[in-house]
Amino acid sequence: EDAEKGSYDHYMLKEIHEQPVALRQTLHGRIDGDDVALEEFPPGSFDDVDRVQFVACGTSYHAALYGEWLLSKDGVDATTYIASEYAASPAPVDEDTLVVGVTQSGETADTLEALESARERGARTLALTNVIGSTAARTCDDALFIRAGPEIGVAATKTFSSQVATLVLLAERLVRDITGSPTSDHADRLDALASLPEHVESITTDSRAADISQRCLGDNGHFFIGRGNAFPVALEGALKFKEITYGHAEGFAAGELKHGPLALVTPETPVIAIGTGHDEARLKSNVTESRTRGAPVIAIAPRTASDLADVAEEFLPVPATHPDLVAILANVQLQLIAYHAANAMERSIDKPRNLAKSVTVE
Ligand code: G6P
Repeated sequence: EDAEKGSYDHYMLKEIHEQPVALRQTLHGRIDGDDVALEEFPPGSFDDVDRVQFVACGTSYHAALYGEWLLSKDGVDATTYIASEYAASPAPVDEDTLVVGVTQSGETADTLEALESARERGARTLALTNVIGSTAARTCDDALFIRAGPEIGVAATKTFSSQVATLVLLAERLVRDITGSPTSDHADRLDALASLPEHVESITTDSRAADISQRCLGDNGHFFIGRGNAFPVALEGALKFKEITYGHAEGFAAGELKHGPLALVTPETPVIAIGTGHDEARLKSNVTESRTRGAPVIAIAPRTASDLADVAEEFLPVPATHPDLVAILANVQLQLIAYHAANAMERSIDKPRNLAKSVTVE
């Protein structure tokens, strides 16, 4: 087991650093100029689809929310459901509904049950998974593989990045087939997607997250906030942090801060604000509101496109890229913050207490 970790102390850190390679595998051969080339799904594959439902759990649920955001902004009717809720109380479907199960392992019982319920009621099902031959891949009508390579650490890292990159590809095909037009900005976005591996690499090779994580030890709570595509990443940053540090952490849509959580913000609750460098005025005022209450604020955003550094106490930059993809990069900084905080607390990072890599019971 130690040999497979190579020079890394934990699989989680190894897998964080593997993300550029994983993303290259995810994207290999799948971008063709200003269109996607999905072997499984040539143009027209989704002509009959009129709405999309995602079902997923945990980290995959956050990737699915990112997918919903991508589809909705380009006019596709898309909704994300927590798989256990969907299984118990399924949303209406018909034969024009595509139900996408986002599941790294392809074996999560709640997600399989939700997919089965959709299939029994006549929907078309698609497994977006890392594991060829998994139950989800075998039982769904279609499968799209994220090609991230095996992930050992219980806390999902590289599979989240590869899931979201795959969802960017799938969104391009779905939007073209369903609306008849490409996504807005498709050429620039696909260009940026092709550069994602090198952008992630620049973070994994040079990040101040280890230093900054020392601000997040032993506090009362940790709040992660973001808007748009940074909202699912705020949820994911909080999940990663609580899974491996055992510290209390919550993610919020930044606009919700004033509707409750602000009552909890004190000098003992670090606030981590995720900016995309796009339409940031309101996020900036959320940062100021938090600072006014004495909270240490760590901002993560592209330095050139964002002025959050002016109002936050600490700033972690990510490379400038297409605003739709920035949050994928910010998430890598969040993974590193969680990892280094947990490491400083000597937690069982690869096997956190009470958690399993794949939950095969409902
Ligand atoms: C477990 C893992 C999580 C994972 C979730 C969904 O709870 O601990 O890291 O996100 O299952 O797993 P899946 O394989 O369906 O993506």
